[in-house]
Amino acid sequence: MPSPAANNRILSGVQPTGNLHLGNYLGAIRNWVKLQQNHECFYMLADLHAITVPQDPALLRANVRETAAAYIACGIDPKHSAIFPQSSVSGHSELAWILSCHTPLGWLNRMTQFKEKAGKQKDNAALGLYSYPVLMAADILLYKAGFVPVGEDQKQHLELCRDIAGAFNRQYQTEFFPIPEPLILGEATRVMSLRDGTKKMSKSDESDYSRINLTDDADTIALKFRKAKSDMVEGMSYDETARPEAANLLNIYAVLKNITREQALAECADKNFSAFKQMLTEVAVETLSPITRTMRELIASPDYIDEMLANGVERAKAVADVTMRELKNVIGFLDI
Ligand code: AMP
Ligand code: TRP
Repeated sequence: MPSPAANNRILSGVQPTGNLHLGNYLGAIRNWVKLQQNHECFYMLADLHAITVPQDPALLRANVRETAAAYIACGIDPKHSAIFPQSSVSGHSELAWILSCHTPLGWLNRMTQFKEKAGKQKDNAALGLYSYPVLMAADILLYKAGFVPVGEDQKQHLELCRDIAGAFNRQYQTEFFPIPEPLILGEATRVMSLRDGTKKMSKSDESDYSRINLTDDADTIALKFRKAKSDMVEGMSYDETARPEAANLLNIYAVLKNITREQALAECADKNFSAFKQMLTEVAVETLSPITRTMRELIASPDYIDEMLANGVERAKAVADVTMRELKNVIGFLDI
């Protein structure tokens, strides 16, 4: 019999493509840290996802270690949570193939991220960029995770994962895959660009001034906030439509200080943009500088990182191998 459905297991990951930023931290990794208290957590480095667009091998290797360092520096405890590169657990690719045979093309055609990323060059985009959400479903279902903490932009992919799990279960008349719940937590599920308050803060934005990277030092953070887009309205107020940049920065301020938006406004309403930016810089530096320092120390010890990742791989494989063995039986593959 397949193993019973959902437990308190968590699975999530970030693509190790460099430029990890404040949005990744506030929208995702910070929530992962809290979830460790009462969940069994698997946090991977999504390197198989990273190669959906061309990567330089040496840079990819460095970025996997840097992202692992960021997880730990942000507070993921490798003794509690399994941290591992996705490519080291073969079940991810294997299950992605199997699930791709259970995913109608029509479902993939609806994915907005592919349309955004492939743009007008659709015919030149890799097949993997198109089928990426199936791999993401495989990541989650391989561990039969009950919960998946992500930022707002991943919601559609999670809905697809739920649909695929449901379709599979119906076809084989089983409850093999639990239907995972997205966890889109907190007030910073969509941190916006510092250059354009209507665009998401993103690793791939050409301008480094659009984001605060977790590796930025205090001077760089101050400079980036100083140069961040502002407006001519007097005082600070929260209006996402009329003042998207002010709303975004106020939101970042509130989240970093762990206060409500109303409390943030009470502190800042009478400040002009430049005074507010200085307050924001102070809290950002206070939060990020210990993270940046620890990241630097860890990056200087690649042997420690690799050992920690090897331990994570072992723990991930222990779960993944069981799922794959049981799954093959459900499908009708010989157990040889
Ligand atoms: P990615 O940078 O696409 O690998 O995303 C890694 C995680 O960070 C995912 O859970 C995303 O939803 C989340 N994330 C990425 N960008 C942002 C953002 N600007 N605001 C909030 N969360 C984000
Ligand atoms: N697609 C996610 C992103 O770009 C990263 C990711 C890959 C992921 N596999 C996952 C997130 C599984 C949650 C669960 O942000």
